[in-house]
Formats: sequence, C-alpha cells, structure tokens
Amino acid sequence: MNPDRKPLIAANWKMHKTPVEAIAFMERLQKETGPLDDREVLVAPPFTAIQALGNILRQKGYSLGAQNCHWEEKGAYTGEISTPMLKDLGCSYVIVGHSERRQLFGETDQTVRLKTAAVIKAGMTPVVCLGEVLEEREQGRTFEVIDKQLKGALQGFSAEQMSGVVIAYEPVWAIGTGRTATPEQAQEVHAHIRGTISSFFSTAIEKTVRILYGGSVKPSNVDALMAQPDIDGALVGGASLEVGSFASLIHFNV
Ligand code: 13P
Repeated sequence: MNPDRKPLIAANWKMHKTPVEAIAFMERLQKETGPLDDREVLVAPPFTAIQALGNILRQKGYSLGAQNCHWEEKGAYTGEISTPMLKDLGCSYVIVGHSERRQLFGETDQTVRLKTAAVIKAGMTPVVCLGEVLEEREQGRTFEVIDKQLKGALQGFSAEQMSGVVIAYEPVWAIGTGRTATPEQAQEVHAHIRGTISSFFSTAIEKTVRILYGGSVKPSNVDALMAQPDIDGALVGGASLEVGSFASLIHFNV
C-alpha cells in the first residue's frame, strides 16, 4: 500500500447469505472490529440482501456494493437490475466483470465497458475485475491478457470518469483454489496495471487509482500482500464469509 491511497478491503459474498444471515453477520462483525478511520471496508452482498444491509452499514461507516448490474437504466430486460436501482438502495460501488461472470455468464470486455460506464454515470464507483487464467500465465501471456482487458474495459474514458475507478486484479487460477499469487507475483502485475493506466490516461490518475488483489486472500497472507507498494486492498470471497476471518482481514497490519 501507499499512504496516498486509502486501503480498501472488500467482501464479495457471491451467492451466499440471506438478508437475515447478512444482518446477523454484520452485527457480530461490528463487535469484533475497531474504528476504520485509515481504511475503507466494502461489503457486496447478493442483490436480495442489499436493502437489509444498507442502514446498518451506513451507521458504522462501511460501504455498500453490488456484484453486478445491467448497463441500461430501465427497460425490458427480464431478471436484470439497473445502476439507478442500486444507487437508490444506497450502493456506492458495483463489482463489474468478475471472472465468474466472464466465464459462466458470457460477460465480455464490451459488456464490462458498458457496465463500467453505467456505474460511473449513476454516480457510483465501479470495481473492474481483471485476471488471467492458468494457461495464459503458463504461456507467459499475463500482461498481454491484462492489457487487452484494461483496454477493452477502460480506454477512451475521460480522466474525470476514471478518477474514482477501482481495479481488482484477480488471477483466475487463485480464485477459490487456496492458491494465492505470491506478494511478488501480485505486485508485478499491479505495477504493470498502474503503468498501463498511466499510458491511457495520466500520471495523476496512475497515482490515485486503487488496485485491489483478489484470489484466496486470507488472514495468513493479507499482511504480506498489503505490504506491496502497488497493492491498495483486497477483494475477498471465501474468507469474507466468516466473521472471524473477515475481521482479521480488516485489521491487516503493514
Ligand atoms: P476467494 O477469496 O474465495 O478466492 O475469491 C476471490 C474472489 O473471487 C473475490 O471476488
């Protein structure tokens, strides 16, 4: 991390927790966590628990997010949720382009781009996810894949649009596998992402954009990851579902 950028620890609950379970989790979490002045905590529950968590998160200074959205504001899109709807529920972040959505639900750089634009337009912050699969890493193509995803999702946005965007580097081979990228492997890609952002936009944005690491982040590895200069936070799946482990992640030490 870098003192110029506020660290962000984000929980992606994926398809876990009912509203009742989500409230019980937050009540317990708040008892186990201290003040959050120097760090930001974001919780992205399933759509069905967003409303239930809104008040409780706001009171405690946590941020609320969604895991996906549609790019249109309204219309005949059965089963979809728009960005104004999420904003209205108190969301300030939306995760966009998670690898599970790319792999299982046909999301492409093009739809990631449309969703990113919709999130910004609605006045929220997109958390744009990128990452290579194992085969691409083994072929030495990690940077090429990351650049293509970054270009597809973000190139052409204005510096103003980009100013709040959060990027999450999540190597697909590290998600839910227990196999974390080493801090050095993650740092190498984060530094590359920062350089690419600088070439698309400006050094001012390069310095402010927050880049999270995701993929088997847990209490035992969070400190070493957060010690890297270009890692500004974590996007956490499995370890965010248990109060004890999420509380430890929030209280990472560098
Ligand atoms: P895990 O922390 O379970 O590996 O999941 C990471 C992730 O996909 C967060 O978005």
